[in-house]
Amino acid sequence: MIKIAPSILSADFADLKRDIQRTSTADYLHVDVMDGAFVPNITIGMPVVKSIRSCTDMFLDVHLMIDKPVRYAEAFARAGADLITVHLEADLPARIADALRIIGDCGVKRAVALRPITKAEAVLPYIEELDLVLVMTVEPGFGGQKFMESQLDTIRQVRSIIEKYNPACELEVDGGINARTAPLAVEAGANVLVAGSAVYGAADIPGAIQALRGTV
Ligand code: DX5
Ligand code: ZN
Repeated sequence: MIKIAPSILSADFADLKRDIQRTSTADYLHVDVMDGAFVPNITIGMPVVKSIRSCTDMFLDVHLMIDKPVRYAEAFARAGADLITVHLEADLPARIADALRIIGDCGVKRAVALRPITKAEAVLPYIEELDLVLVMTVEPGFGGQKFMESQLDTIRQVRSIIEKYNPACELEVDGGINARTAPLAVEAGANVLVAGSAVYGAADIPGAIQALRGTV
């Protein structure tokens, strides 16, 4: 089954609770955490994740776009994340492994993300312990960018690594997903679709979620 994960980056932060409620027919709620260092933008931190946790039962998919995520892995787990994604480019491999271990020890699902420059094989040291791999289809940092079709190859390669080493692992794509690009990503092997502007930019949010499901 294909899962839809609206990214609250494109929601109205002054009316976040209302926008989250409008998203309740989706599968995951995607929360973009940016530190102004790993990416050139700053968004939200643990207190906001905690507040989101208190107003929804949705599965919280927390995407950490921060340097050295090992420093904050436990804090985001305690704030109420159901799954935490760390970027492979954000620290040395041993420290990424430490972050994943901490996340798992907190009983939270573990994921790694790949920037467009990162090769699919970079997931190999971690693949057997992962619940999800996130392939970025834009440069991380901002919503509303154009889907990079050149990433379809990486999605296919990650899918074949998953099938070989950990078939239960999910494959999420993030960036530029809309009614045109969703089928391309799914055809390449993705099963979780993050969508920010395509969901929260629509006048009818449940309708936009339904429309995305209908394309795949
Ligand atoms: C970008 C974020 C995305 C972003 C997606 O760095 O990780 O989750 O919100 O937004 P759209 O769907 O508008 O590309
Ligand atoms: Zn994201």
